Amino acid sequence: SAAEKGGFDWFMLKEIDEQPQAVADTLLGRYAADGSLQLDEMRLSDDELRDIDKVIIIACGTAFYAGLVAKYAIEHWTRVPCEVELASEFRYRDPIVDRSTLVVAISQSGETMDTLMAIRHARTQRANVLAICNTNGSTIPRESDAVIYTHAGPEIAVASTKGFLSQVVACYLLGLYLAQVRGAKFGDEITAIMHELESLPAAIRRVLDDGEQVRELARELVDKRSVLFLGRHAGYPVALEGALKLKELAYIHAEGFAAGELKHGPIALIEDDLPVFVIVPPRGRDQLNEKVISNVQEIRARGARTIVLAEDGDEHVVPYADHLIRLPRVPTLMQPLVATVPLQLFACELADRLGHDVDQPRNLAKSVTVE
Ligand code: G6P
Repeated sequence: SAAEKGGFDWFMLKEIDEQPQAVADTLLGRYAADGSLQLDEMRLSDDELRDIDKVIIIACGTAFYAGLVAKYAIEHWTRVPCEVELASEFRYRDPIVDRSTLVVAISQSGETMDTLMAIRHARTQRANVLAICNTNGSTIPRESDAVIYTHAGPEIAVASTKGFLSQVVACYLLGLYLAQVRGAKFGDEITAIMHELESLPAAIRRVLDDGEQVRELARELVDKRSVLFLGRHAGYPVALEGALKLKELAYIHAEGFAAGELKHGPIALIEDDLPVFVIVPPRGRDQLNEKVISNVQEIRARGARTIVLAEDGDEHVVPYADHLIRLPRVPTLMQPLVATVPLQLFACELADRLGHDVDQPRNLAKSVTVE
């Protein structure tokens, strides 16, 4: 009913709007006054975590993309190698897993069969299994050695939104925790990153407040049959997620690419008026901002219609952007948490305009409990 949807047309829109709260609630109570991180549901001892020599994240769908984002942060903060793998691929390739492996299973529902089978396999190999899950008492956390719950509240729309953002946040908490127990990061650094995380709900609210521009764009592009997404570094999984949302909801061809790969193939796809979303990394010391802006230039010169997501104050890209979506200025690792939001809104609005059921897309299930 309309009341259940809190005045929104779709549960998905309501859940997109709840993201500032979902992020805030996932962070709540994790950070003690003495500057240490508290993860209450962590049943693995600090000694066990110090012995970990590898992290393998397994998940499906949108949760897999949350894992891809997390890899950038976990390796950067902990210096522990981190792989991310589709749950459905993991156990069939005889992965190298042992008692010093931390397997992290990300699942909103906690019931996805592929993910469950993957953790069962990991446990037979003596791995430590930690679940990141949004559903209390569901199967995956029950079969894991430890769990970090995302506190996003129930997610009803089939396509995951607040689930995704809160999964990224929970993975970041895990990364900081690992860094803390392993002595790779200390009080001040962790405090600074926690402050960055704590400033996200306001930044996400800002993006939501600017949503009308994105909805207008969806109305303009409603007859397009193909859309591309480009991103780099932590923006690359955002591109993949933006494309997945469009496939799931609007049933149109959409693909995400790593911007650096453009010249190795995808540039051949560029043709007149093809919409291409580009997530531009924040300006920094690593030159990625400049490199991605030159990608925007290249595709526009070949006729693409460029839809650019760039931080406030980034003026370099303005001449090459047919549409410019502004993002609040946040550090590189935090950008996925703001940049994903306009892509969710875009897919939602486009699907609605096409007359599709946004909350229950054809052929999909909220939780896939068969292999
Ligand atoms: C299904 C849903 C997706 C979701 C995936 C993983 O395919 O349609 O939206 O991302 O399952 O679900 P999980 O509950 O394990 O996060």
